[in-house]
Amino acid sequence: MIVLPEYPKLLQIEPTNKCNFSCSMCLNAYGNSENYFLSLESLQQIAEDVFPHIEKLVLYGFGEPLMHPDFMEMLQISRKHLPSGSSITFTTNGSLLDKDKIDLIVDNQLADEIVLSCDMLLDDEIQPELHTLDKRNVRGNLEYLIEKNFEKNIRIGIQTVLMKSNVDEIENIIRKFGLMGIDFISVSHIYPFFENLQEEVLYTMITKEALIILEENRSNWKEIVLGVSKEKFAEKMQETYKQFYSRKEHIKPKERPYSEIFDEAQAKAKEKDVSLNISLYVRDMERIKDLYDMEKSFNKYEQVAKETNIELILPTILPDFLERQCPYHHANAAVIRSDGSVVPCFKYLWDHKSYLNDHERINSSYSFGNILQDSFQHIWHSDKYQKFRSKMDKMNKSIPYCGDCGLSSNNCFYAIEDTSDCWGNEPFCSECPYSLNLTKCIM
Ligand SMILES: C[S@@+](CC[C@H](N)C(=O)[O-])C[C@H]1O[C@@H](n2cnc3c(N)ncnc32)[C@H](O)[C@@H]1O
Ligand code: SF4
Ligand code: SF4
Ligand code: SF4
Repeated sequence: MIVLPEYPKLLQIEPTNKCNFSCSMCLNAYGNSENYFLSLESLQQIAEDVFPHIEKLVLYGFGEPLMHPDFMEMLQISRKHLPSGSSITFTTNGSLLDKDKIDLIVDNQLADEIVLSCDMLLDDEIQPELHTLDKRNVRGNLEYLIEKNFEKNIRIGIQTVLMKSNVDEIENIIRKFGLMGIDFISVSHIYPFFENLQEEVLYTMITKEALIILEENRSNWKEIVLGVSKEKFAEKMQETYKQFYSRKEHIKPKERPYSEIFDEAQAKAKEKDVSLNISLYVRDMERIKDLYDMEKSFNKYEQVAKETNIELILPTILPDFLERQCPYHHANAAVIRSDGSVVPCFKYLWDHKSYLNDHERINSSYSFGNILQDSFQHIWHSDKYQKFRSKMDKMNKSIPYCGDCGLSSNNCFYAIEDTSDCWGNEPFCSECPYSLNLTKCIM
């Protein structure tokens, strides 16, 4: 029997979902959602009940935490109730982190780690809505923070989203922040909230276990799709998968489109106990070729980081099924949204669409309860939350994986919109790039 912890070790709290930026890759760009501000009374209650038992508090979600008018009081309440040795982190776009706030934070050690988001050093004409040092007062605020924090009691970090638009600048970003004396830079792949962001994605959801088999026949697949329209290929592949999964033995393999190469690959996959998402492979084929070069780029990034003495945290290049795990469960973390809802992770904060595995998915937010109506402890120990955490303990055994499933790019109902996966688990974690260390949150 799994013994579930009495309290989370890490609590992430979203002070507000309101933001003063509208970054093109962010969920906030959907606009028109209602704005919430967690009240000081709610924070005080959590601080008294839960903070004495946790090791880390993370104060951000979707929205700019410093847009909360009482953000500084939130830090003060938190510091007062957290046990010694615990830490406070927040991520910010940096525009509102002015001199007065920095003085208060540094003089009173109100945070142990401050992370600024930066995706490009200078404003870019093609991608004007990214975090840059040029935006508002970011550069000046960061420089003052570094100067004021000369005793280095606070770790200062940078969070960068890696995408096609900025991949050529990552090396410069690392060098610049290394030379500025920043402690670390954490790079995340992009989570595609919008259809146009599919073009920005620099990863595949196919795992390396499946890729080994698929790549053996690269030239055959290439030949097959040569001259076939994307729509026609998708239609034929859908037919093949439909027949393959429904095990219609009476349909002779050769009557299925692409049967020879399909069956050969499936037989090899069966031997190795992996499944294949051939539709996605064919779509991602060119991108996958580039991923082998990414390893060289990552080595170069590591070298620049070493030279400029900055810690570098990079995402995974090719996902490894055996390494799949929920980062929130692994950290024994819970997340509280600015309206008081207790949600499993950053990804489940707010309703959104995603465009992974060549399809649109409607992701509704998922809540285990609300601290405005119930105590956090009651929610944390509820059957629903406990069941979820027990399943997450052995994610690969309990949760199917869509990245290697042929149905995910072929209209699987669960993958398109259901709250549960095809094994009946809620929330839907089967297509999560965070669980493969592709997309990353500061935690
Ligand atoms: C949502 S923001 C909230 C905190 C604050 N407003 C900020 O920008 O730092 C937290 C982090 O998420 C990152 N982010 C936003 N959209 C993303 C996406 N589509 N994929 C991956 N990370 C994203 C941001 O760049 C930022 O570093
Ligand atoms: S990434 Fe941060 S700053 Fe940019 S829009 Fe989203 S919440 Fe605002
Ligand atoms: S969606 Fe991903 S990060 Fe969120 S709970 Fe599921 S596995 Fe964890
Ligand atoms: S939900 Fe299940 S059947 Fe559907 S794509 Fe994912 S793994 Fe495949």
